[in-house]
Amino acid sequence: MTEQQRKPITTAKLRAMKKKGEPISMVTAYDFPSARLAEAAGVDMILVGDSLGNVVQGRETTLSVTLDHMVYHTELVSRAVTIPFVVADMPFLTYHGSVDETLRNVLRLMQDGGAKAVKLEGGTEVLPAVRAAARAGVPVMAHLGLTPQSVHAIGGYKVQGKQNEEANKLIEDALALEDAGAFALVLELVTDELSALVTERLSIPTIGIGSGSRCDGQVLVFHDLLQYSDEPAEKKFVQTYANVGEHIKNAINAYVADVKSRSFPSERHAFHMDEEAAKQLYGSVKSK
Ligand code: KIV
Repeated sequence: MTEQQRKPITTAKLRAMKKKGEPISMVTAYDFPSARLAEAAGVDMILVGDSLGNVVQGRETTLSVTLDHMVYHTELVSRAVTIPFVVADMPFLTYHGSVDETLRNVLRLMQDGGAKAVKLEGGTEVLPAVRAAARAGVPVMAHLGLTPQSVHAIGGYKVQGKQNEEANKLIEDALALEDAGAFALVLELVTDELSALVTERLSIPTIGIGSGSRCDGQVLVFHDLLQYSDEPAEKKFVQTYANVGEHIKNAINAYVADVKSRSFPSERHAFHMDEEAAKQLYGSVKSK
């Protein structure tokens, strides 16, 4: 199917895909050209993730990402695409205050950023935020398992749901989030067994990252998937489909060599005056 024939993805379509057992593809994007390429490649959903703190801003965690950063990047992405369903992350501590404050922050991501949905991390503690946004007609994507905004409380980036107590809590949270109105659930770094069980128990789609193959869909970070970095993403759950970082480095290296050897720019890159004007210019320069 060509891009012209594809219809914009909606929450109803995503739910129908789960029902039919049709896998959902999602990738992160943070700017206009990346979003355009993701759309042209046929992706169903784009996440403007606060992972931009890591891969765009070069920070260790996502905690530095502000609402203004998210609005800026979401607007670039939303303006670039018509078909994929664009979800924007609510950044650190922007949905833990009053419901009014949460809704004001949602408003900015949707009205100024153009997002079609928001994503927020956490279980029962974020139910008031999920409920309020869903009641206001906002599609909310929930996020359980490894929740990077709580990295300091969790004590590192580790696999979740290995023990039964933790697994049962995650199942309870997932059911409560669905009940509160979430339209989808991201499961990050959750054991394969647990994510399969959650996927079976929920009627909303689950989107996995590092959570095995039995979720309804998968999401990867743009820079990990493409190895858009000067070093490989050393994460067991990542599959790299290209080595864009190496291509960029080699291309810039070739440019530097051409500049140093004066082979760039060449005659075909130059702009010229007409002959008469050039003669006059040289004459006037000489006479000074
Ligand atoms: O910020 C992000 O990119 C995410 C994905 C890892 C799910 O939350």
